[in-house]
Amino acid sequence: MELLKITTQPIEGQKPGTSGLRKKTRTFMGPHYLENFVQAIWTGIGGATGKTLVLGGDGRYFNDRAAQVILRMAAASGAARVIVGQGALLSTPAASHLIRQRKTDGGIILSASHNPGGPDEDFGVKFNTPNGGPAPEDVTNRIFAATETIESYHILESQDVDLATPGEHALGPMTVEVVDPVADYADLMETLFDFNAIRGLLNSGFRVTFDAMHAITGPYATEILQNRLGAAPGSVMNATPLPDFGGGHPDPNPIWAKPLVDLVMGDDAPDFAAASDGDGDRNMILGRGIYVTPSDSLAVLAANAHLAPGYAKGLTGVARSMPTSRALDRVAEAKRLTCYETPTGWKFFGNLLDAGHITLCGEESAGTGSDHVREKDGLWAVLLWLNILAARGESVADILTDHWNTYGRNYYSRHDYDGVDADRAAGMMDALRAKLGDLPGQSFGSRKIAGADEFAYDDPVDGSRAEGQGLRITFDDGARIIYRLSGTGTVGATLRVYLEAVETDPAKLHGDAQEALADVIRAADEIAGIKTHTGRDAPDVMT
Ligand code: G1P
Ligand code: ZN
Repeated sequence: MELLKITTQPIEGQKPGTSGLRKKTRTFMGPHYLENFVQAIWTGIGGATGKTLVLGGDGRYFNDRAAQVILRMAAASGAARVIVGQGALLSTPAASHLIRQRKTDGGIILSASHNPGGPDEDFGVKFNTPNGGPAPEDVTNRIFAATETIESYHILESQDVDLATPGEHALGPMTVEVVDPVADYADLMETLFDFNAIRGLLNSGFRVTFDAMHAITGPYATEILQNRLGAAPGSVMNATPLPDFGGGHPDPNPIWAKPLVDLVMGDDAPDFAAASDGDGDRNMILGRGIYVTPSDSLAVLAANAHLAPGYAKGLTGVARSMPTSRALDRVAEAKRLTCYETPTGWKFFGNLLDAGHITLCGEESAGTGSDHVREKDGLWAVLLWLNILAARGESVADILTDHWNTYGRNYYSRHDYDGVDADRAAGMMDALRAKLGDLPGQSFGSRKIAGADEFAYDDPVDGSRAEGQGLRITFDDGARIIYRLSGTGTVGATLRVYLEAVETDPAKLHGDAQEALADVIRAADEIAGIKTHTGRDAPDVMT
């Protein structure tokens, strides 16, 4: 085995975004691309020497090859041990758990989350710190800086490590430990939820369907829902992870998981249905005849979490990303909990969780989680819902109706304009930013603008400041419009427009969101000139 020092030079654009570095798979497969970035990670974390790291990914195309490269680079840079999920697989929440459980120095997760996989689709690499969470900005900034000055990287010349069966292997002076990717995570779930109660519910004829979307949660959901909780065989659909996710978008929303939505809206609907994404951190929740928006789901979970043993003592506080609907705030107010508002991206919850300020948090983009790991967690949300359903003995629809009757309904939708010319998108944001000061007091239909600003966040734990986190318009009746550009896209710019309106009239709680938001949607275009700037007539995706 020879230790190689390969000469390289900086490659432009290796700046980690909302969630690690995401690029086209072919870009990652290009000469030195992955290697440069991995070497920059070692530099950004103060070297790999003596460290123990976790490694795994969502199984997408190139996952297996990338894992072998990273192992050889870790060995060449002096890492002591790398704990790898069998087959180089680990869901993002399971990786977060393993990093924490084994008290490691962090880990590398290979995923582009809900983006499609394959040679012509997307790939991603993300570093998580010893607390199990995505690296905060000071770390990602150091990694990026290292990509800009890199001159060489180290790699061991060797055969592939056998990752097919659990056990230990030597790779030069380093130990590679291959572990069952599911068992520890499933055990953790048993400590949080009343598995007996859920088993009782599933034995009583309550039917569950979980769509793993040909992605990483297949083995996890099969073990937990079918093997440990007794859901009927076949309850987990699309359960085998595939490198291209069967050609689909492993994105659990009503667009990409339409077959599941059709199922719950049809005659033979199960009582509860759910889906997760490519790497297992997102979730979509459905009941018979009903789709629960992620923002509502977060609020319902916060209101009912005490029904699960792991949260029986109550919550210390809650948090949501700024564009997430304020349904959560209403629960927090009623329960006298502090509700923190953070920028988009899970990494901003890490400090609040570590400091014990919050127990539960979430984002409108189908992410919910708690202090059990430092990532959002799709199956965790599914199990908490099932625990609540078992404890309350009511249907999903009844629980949601009861929630709206108690707290009011925050009608909510996100409109995405994908692949917009980057300059035009930036032009729209610049123009809007320039007139924020003039907006308060202006009327749009029956609403008047109460506030307009660009969101910045001062972390209450470490005092760090994140600026430029979205343009925010608030109306006098609680309605809101948020504009921001995506930090995870790989082509052009994605403009996200988040729309929200509060309804407390019991007669108007069951309407269609797009209809209920019609005035807000119109105002969003009038205020920012979306159509003029982007040249688009309508959003590509409405969630
Ligand atoms: C998107 C979501 C955000 C989430 C991130 C990673 O980021 O909006 O909530 O944390 O993916 O899953 P964006 O593309 O908006 O920057
Ligand atoms: Zn994901």
